[in-house]
Amino acid sequence: MHPADPARYAQKSFQARCGKSGLHLPKVSLGLWHNFGSVDDYANARAIALRAFDLGVTHFDLANNYGPVPGSAEETFGRILREDLGAYRDELIISTKAGYTMWPGPHGDFGSRKYLLASLDQSLKRMGLPYVDVFYSHRRDPHTPLEETMGALAQAVRSGKALYAAISNYDPADTARACALLRELGTPCVMHQPKYSLFERTPEAGLLDVVEKEGLGCAVFSPLAQGMLTDRYLQGIPADARAGKPHGYLRPEQLDAVRMRKVRRLAEVAAERGQPLASMAIAWVLRDRRVTSAIIGASKVAQLEQCVAAASSAPFASEELKRIDAILAG
Ligand SMILES: NC(=O)c1ccc[n+]([C@@H]2O[C@H](COP(=O)([O-])OP(=O)(O)OC[C@H]3O[C@@H](n4cnc5c(N)ncnc54)[C@H](OP(=O)(O)O)[C@@H]3O)[C@@H](O)[C@H]2O)c1
Repeated sequence: MHPADPARYAQKSFQARCGKSGLHLPKVSLGLWHNFGSVDDYANARAIALRAFDLGVTHFDLANNYGPVPGSAEETFGRILREDLGAYRDELIISTKAGYTMWPGPHGDFGSRKYLLASLDQSLKRMGLPYVDVFYSHRRDPHTPLEETMGALAQAVRSGKALYAAISNYDPADTARACALLRELGTPCVMHQPKYSLFERTPEAGLLDVVEKEGLGCAVFSPLAQGMLTDRYLQGIPADARAGKPHGYLRPEQLDAVRMRKVRRLAEVAAERGQPLASMAIAWVLRDRRVTSAIIGASKVAQLEQCVAAASSAPFASEELKRIDAILAG
């Protein structure tokens, strides 16, 4: 078992209440979408997860399809639990999701009751767990009644296989409806997980208002825009970076000249604030009090440390925020 750092909760402000619930999330959570698959180095994945826990990162975000191969990130995390972190299970917030393609046929994707409940069983088996803390509908299924999808989440909670129900990638109207349904079913929605970063501000157009009104927590994903909002690509595309790997979800064409000009100008603002761009980008999503946690990814322990340090950044002056808005609009 891993001898965890006794000082991991020393910084009290690092843990935040998730909406109006009793659940608490660290300001920075670790996502296992990339770098924890069967194609990745296990020793490195393990080192990142253990360092995260020692820094107070209690929330590990997974999904059925994380890998590659799909499912292998849950297997990796299951091994880390078995060999290193299992003794701390009651401190850990482990989330998983179902909603994207997992197996062939009509019940290996989207939002049917059949898919969600079978997928949760598979996730538990891969991680070697009797329950997860949070089970998400990963995306809205336009062809399945929302009542069915929310009914499956409620069933997951009632069966004890998940402690809390949650949704991801739902628009504001469906979020409000999902919350009402889950409330009626007696298993309230605990949080939303939208994509939010300096480059992806859609949640500002209504979703964050719904999150607040419904008393949800909000754990935002890809706050670094998959690594674009860091110094990673300032000198080209390194072979070991996400955009340089064949299985990376970030593709080289996304790093176009307009985008990279903005990245460089944002990096100047960060330098004036005395921090790396990655830290500023995370501090920026956390500046909104409706955002409970920033779910980051990391391929190196040093990256993770920089991301966690971002939670104690200086607040933004209004002039800085205006300058950032102008760069993004330019
Ligand atoms: N609900 C959903 O639909 C959904 C979708 C996507 C993601 N997510 C969740 O959100 C998590 C995070 O997503 P993400 O990995 O795209 O997040 P991200 O934090 O935007 O990007 C992570 C990548 O940024 C780079 N990076 C991180 N810290 C850095 C630093 N200090 N300096 C330089 N580069 C740094 C690394 O790239 P390199 O690997 O190139 O080093 C790392 O892999 C996922 O693991 C998953 O849990 C959810």
